[in-house]
Amino acid sequence: IFGPEAAALTALEAAARKVFKLYGVKELRIPTVELKELFIKSTGTTTDIVQKEMYSFEDAGHRLLALRPEGTPGVARAYIENNFTQAAPVQQFFYIGNMFRAERPQAGRYREFEQIGAEFLGNPAPAADAQAILLLKDIMQAFGVKNYSVKINSLGCEKCRPLYRQALIDYLSSSKDTLCETCQDRLERNPLRVLDCKIDGHRFAEGAPKMKLCPECEEHFNEVKRLLDGKIPYIVDTSLVRGLDYYTRTVFEFQAGDKSQNAIAAGGRYDSLIKSMGGADIPAVGWAMGAERTCLALGSLPAEEEVKVYVVSLEKSCNEYAFNVMQNLRADGIITEGGLFEKNLKGQMKQADRTKARFAVIIGGEETARGSAKLKDLTTGEQKDYPLDALAGAIKNIK
Ligand code: HAM
Repeated sequence: IFGPEAAALTALEAAARKVFKLYGVKELRIPTVELKELFIKSTGTTTDIVQKEMYSFEDAGHRLLALRPEGTPGVARAYIENNFTQAAPVQQFFYIGNMFRAERPQAGRYREFEQIGAEFLGNPAPAADAQAILLLKDIMQAFGVKNYSVKINSLGCEKCRPLYRQALIDYLSSSKDTLCETCQDRLERNPLRVLDCKIDGHRFAEGAPKMKLCPECEEHFNEVKRLLDGKIPYIVDTSLVRGLDYYTRTVFEFQAGDKSQNAIAAGGRYDSLIKSMGGADIPAVGWAMGAERTCLALGSLPAEEEVKVYVVSLEKSCNEYAFNVMQNLRADGIITEGGLFEKNLKGQMKQADRTKARFAVIIGGEETARGSAKLKDLTTGEQKDYPLDALAGAIKNIK
């Protein structure tokens, strides 16, 4: 990844960091490699990620490890191991890093990709769900992505979900023979995922029984919606089930375009994950954004206006002087390239063009003898001699 694509990712990370700061979300650096067991236990055994997409291997110490396919399990593990529960249970973390999934690569779907993620731990209130969603919206806005839609749903809790699960199993069982192989397997283990299947899902989206939330989950969901109303347009989509096992209550997706790999960010509440991993009963909600997909959704990044200088030396005897000019300009805060001193003037000027420099600083025998430099404006062709100590000031003054 290089050029404008690399610049877009950097700009997105910078926008995200700025907004994280506004929300008081602190950085957490999680390992790239974890015990494979961590993902099996948290991401979940019925997910595509664990069933077929993990890059796992045995290390020299016979530990079974995996390249992280997502960040949430590492955050949850870190939270438990560092004893945040006792010391300061309410935490807001973000992470930026590459994730790995053995998926079939296509536009917007890669085997190594970057996620920017946020996790709010220790806050059961609907305000945490709404803040997480608005935080994501503010990052999209700061970066400049406009064309996306937001879908939200509630998957209920341990009380209301089993009833829905059973209703779904009853409904889908009559079509069992027509389901794809994976869905036949999912039917008993995680029937919600059948609705999410790329092959079969759409067949059942209409007719499937609808989730009946318990009063607490219903109130929670209503409050999340109330807090979002007027601040972000959203669609309640009862077929949104998400591909990971740990979600409870609110789930959401930010989608751009209409392809299957259109989710630019997604997340939800996971109130039982930390407990199921051996930690305390700590509720949580979070999301992760696919950085490359978000950049694709932006289209092109507006070109940054920056003044750049390219330093050219005309003779071997001037090289050291020209080299020192470059270092001095940088010390004065001016973006400076150069040093291609083995090439002739034409070759160096060509490179100045390629780097899109606004100015060339040309150093020959006369300039070296006088302690000056020739400044050439590459847009107008004008050139003028400056004493070295006036050069940086002159560059800064030209509009
Ligand atoms: P996820 O839906 O698996 O959720 O991934 C989140 C985002 O990562 C997706 O919406 C997509 O933009 C991006 N993504 C996923 N796979 C790929 C890929 N192969 N290539 C490019 N981009 C991809 C999670 O990972 C959860 N950990 C989110 C979360 C955080 N839930 C609660 N907290």
